[in-house]
Amino acid sequence: MGGVHETIIILDFGAQYTQLIARRIREAGVYSEIHPYNSPLEAFKERNVRGYVLSGGPDSVYEPTAPRGDPRLFAGTTPVLGICYGLQWMVQQLGGQVISGSGREYGRASLKLQRECPLFQELPGEFQVWMSHGDHVEILPPAFQAVATTGKVISAIQHGNLPFYGIQFHPEVAHTEHGSRILRNFVFKICGCRGDWTMGSFIDTAVAQVKMQMQGGHAVCALSGGVDSTVAATLVDRAVGKRLTCIFVDNGLLRQGEYDEVMQRFRDTLHLNVVGVNARQEFLSQLDGVSEPERKRKIIGAEFIRIFEREAQSLGPIEFLVQGTLYPDVIESVSVKGPSAVIKTHHNVGGLPEQMHLKLVEPLRELFKDEVRRVGQELGLDPELIQRQPFPGPGLAVRILGPVSEERLGVLRRADKIVEEEIRAAGLYQQIWQSFAVLLPISSVGVMGDGRTYENVVAVRAVHSQDGMTADWVDLPHGLLSRISSRIVNEVRGVNRVVYDVSSKPPSTIEWE
Ligand code: XMP
Repeated sequence: MGGVHETIIILDFGAQYTQLIARRIREAGVYSEIHPYNSPLEAFKERNVRGYVLSGGPDSVYEPTAPRGDPRLFAGTTPVLGICYGLQWMVQQLGGQVISGSGREYGRASLKLQRECPLFQELPGEFQVWMSHGDHVEILPPAFQAVATTGKVISAIQHGNLPFYGIQFHPEVAHTEHGSRILRNFVFKICGCRGDWTMGSFIDTAVAQVKMQMQGGHAVCALSGGVDSTVAATLVDRAVGKRLTCIFVDNGLLRQGEYDEVMQRFRDTLHLNVVGVNARQEFLSQLDGVSEPERKRKIIGAEFIRIFEREAQSLGPIEFLVQGTLYPDVIESVSVKGPSAVIKTHHNVGGLPEQMHLKLVEPLRELFKDEVRRVGQELGLDPELIQRQPFPGPGLAVRILGPVSEERLGVLRRADKIVEEEIRAAGLYQQIWQSFAVLLPISSVGVMGDGRTYENVVAVRAVHSQDGMTADWVDLPHGLLSRISSRIVNEVRGVNRVVYDVSSKPPSTIEWE
C-alpha cells in the first residue's frame, strides 16, 4: 500500500513472534509491515512511516556477528520502540552497555513502573509481563532514563527528549498483561497515528491499485475453491469486472459434491466470470499406478499447469495472473532466517507466470489469513466459504496412500463426508483447523454378519493449528469418534475398520502424504 496508509515498520531481528507484533498493531487499525532488520531507511522513503518497532531476536548484541540495523534510525525524530533484542541493540548503538549474567529472566515477571512514560499511560503501577532474555541492559546510553523494572533488571527505558523507547519484555504475547495497550500507546500517543486502516479502506485501496496496475489489460485466475483465491478473484472482479476470467479445474481429486457446490457459488452468488474445466480423466490417467507422494504432487502440479495454460490460451491475449498470495508467504521469502526447509513440495501455480509471460496481480499480499476472512466478509462472501477448513491443492490424492483410483476415491469420499457431517453436527467444525479421513493402503480382517471380511482401513485425523506449521491432534469426544466409526463401517462399502490418528506435527505432518 505504498505511501497511502500510516504505517509502522517492524524490523525483524529473528524473533519467534514478530508476526504477532504486526497483528496487534493492525488490530488497532494501523497498517504494519515486517522487514529484515538490516533494511536501509531509503527502502521506506515513499511510505507514510509513523514509527519503527525493533523486534526481539536470539543473538547477543556484543557478539561480533550480531545483527545490526540502520544506525540512521536514531538520527531523526521518527519514533522507535525496541523490544528485547531490539532494545539491547538500541542501547548498544547509542552508547550504553548490555551484558550477560545474573539478570536472565524467562517466563512471567512482575513489572513495576518507576516514572511516568507515554508507553504505560493509564496502566496500573505493577503488572505481569512475559520475559525471555539472557542478556540485559547494564548501563543506559546518555540522555536515557529507566522507567520500569522487575527488580532484577532495567525493563523499560525512554529517551529524555526524543521519541525513542525500549522494553525488555514481549508486549505481543498473550501472557503479558496490557500488551496490546502498550503497543497502542506507542502507535497512538507516541507515533500520533489515527488508526483508520480497516478492511473497508483496504478494499477501496486494493481495488484502486488493481485498476491502476492492470489498466485495460486482461487477467486469469486459478480458483481452488478456498478462501484466498476466491477473495483475490472477487477483489479483482470489483476492479476490472469481466476482464478477469476465472478457471476452476476439476482434477477428479475433490471431495463429494465439491465441484458443483463451488461452481454454483462462483457463478450464482459471486457472479464471477468463471470457466469450469472437467479434467478428471486427464489427472487420473497421469496418476495411474503412482504411489510415491512427491511424484503424485509433481504430476498434479505439472498437469494443472498444462491444463490451465491450454484453457487460458483459448481466451485470447492475457497479460496478468491473479494469485491469492498472503503476507506470511511474503515474509517467509524476505525473512532473516530464510525460507524454512521444504518438507513437501506444495502444489501451486508457481511455474505459470514465467512460462506464460504473465505479470502477477496479488491483492492479498499484505494480509494475514484472518484479515483475508474479514475482507471476504466485507465483500459479502458466505460464511460457509469463509470458515472453510484448508484443503490441499493435490486434494484426496495425498489422503489415499498408495495408488489413486476411481474406486478408492469413491471409498474415501464417502468416509470423508461422514467425518465432516459428524464434526459439523457436534459443532466442532469451525474450532478445528482440519478434520478428514485418510484411506490406508492395507486391508484388515473383520467380521460382518456371519462372514469374514478382508477390507480397507480408514484413519480419521483432526488437528488444531494456527498456521499449519505445527499442529496438535484433537481430543475428540469418544461418543463422536464412536459415531464416526460406526457410520463409516456401516455406510461405506469396503471399509471394516476405523482408527484415529493421535500424532502431532512435528514429528508427523497433517496430511499423511
Ligand atoms: P502438512 O501435511 O505438510 O500440511 O503438515 C500443512 C498444511 O498444508 C496443507 N498441504 C498442502 N496444501 N498443497 C497445498 O496447497 C500441498 O501439496 C499440500 N500439502 C499439505 C495441509 O492440508 C495443511 O493445511
